[in-house]
Amino acid sequence: MLSGKTILIGITGGIAAYKICELIRKFKKNGASVKVVATPNALNFVTKLTLQNLSQNEVYVQEFDVKNWKPEHISLADESDIMLIAPATANTISKIAQGVADNLLTSIACAFSKKMIIAPAMNCNMWNNPVIQENISKLRNLGVEFLEPDSGFLACGYIGKGRLCSIEKIYSAVVEALNYSKILEGKKVVVTSGGTIEDIDPVRYISNYSSGKMGFAIAKVAKDMGANVVLITTKDFTAPFKIVKVKSAIDMQNALDQEFENSDIVVMAAAVADYRVKNYSEQKMKKTSEDTLILELVKNPDILKGLCDKKTSQIVVGFCAESENLLENAKEKIQKKGCDFLVANDISRKDIGFSSDDNEVTILDKNGNLKRIEKASKTVIARKILEYINE
Ligand code: CTP
Repeated sequence: MLSGKTILIGITGGIAAYKICELIRKFKKNGASVKVVATPNALNFVTKLTLQNLSQNEVYVQEFDVKNWKPEHISLADESDIMLIAPATANTISKIAQGVADNLLTSIACAFSKKMIIAPAMNCNMWNNPVIQENISKLRNLGVEFLEPDSGFLACGYIGKGRLCSIEKIYSAVVEALNYSKILEGKKVVVTSGGTIEDIDPVRYISNYSSGKMGFAIAKVAKDMGANVVLITTKDFTAPFKIVKVKSAIDMQNALDQEFENSDIVVMAAAVADYRVKNYSEQKMKKTSEDTLILELVKNPDILKGLCDKKTSQIVVGFCAESENLLENAKEKIQKKGCDFLVANDISRKDIGFSSDDNEVTILDKNGNLKRIEKASKTVIARKILEYINE
């Protein structure tokens, strides 16, 4: 699966460094060539000899152990397909975000122009420190993928978010990233995500539980596949592509109108509210003596249908969240909306959909063909959806 690929693993000084031994073994077993660069502090937690035996390569630590004419930080960056930093301490993340290159690992990171994945591990208060979060955000905006730490018991005695995420998760993220082909190079992909917010008055609104994660995953994967991406979303995301933040269905429709014409693919993963309140109250509504309150609602535009009615060469993909009769409803919906594909997901299941990191979907096309995609992370599902609609 990984043969012909060179993975550069940067290990920094955290207790989770020992877990990377298992990861190196897994990469090697699957055919990758693994190069390890460790900070001097990392070697307090795991020995150079262990890393060397497992990777079957020399382990690089110091900048001036020069063996050939090309400086080590440049040749290691050039010959690797991906750089993974795990565990990444707050210190190393912050140095990379600021462009500091004061050891071999940070020098390589500074010179690295291909895909970089960072799996942080630190004390929960360090993770929550706004300075660290700002540095992470900065790197995310520049295209670095972060694998969020897990919550639980931390080696420092605290309980909180900061544990290195699972080795399986890191392994899958690296394999995923290495297997992307640039099938969307030169294409403009517009994605919507999140539930729309329909205001009632200045303090209240109608919305839904959509987290926006599925649409965000599609946007990220489309970017990795070489597309020029625009994400129109009701949620706060940072990413290395254009993000248009919107609130209501009407805002979303207006934003789409700006982006639709020259787009190649539009994916409507947003959960658009079907109705909004008829009369928005400028002032906070007061409680009355009545026991019931009737809010009058008016229909929002069906954005997806509107796009399908005016589309020329664009591929338009809808999503369909159902809590019962998934396929019957989906078949009816694709006809009604007129989209090229409809991705159906079952929101009655707790293990997939809305706020979950996983999903399981069936893709319908307008000729009645069905393609089932088994349960997987939203990133894997996103890749399979984009590959399928681009076939
Ligand atoms: N959609 C839209 N505009 C709306 C409602 C939905 O563009 N006013 C889009 C969604 O983004 C999604 C698809 O239509 O891609 C299906 O959304 P869904 O909520 O499943 O269907 P509805 O048309 O709202 O039908 P219902 O709620 O009755 O199931």
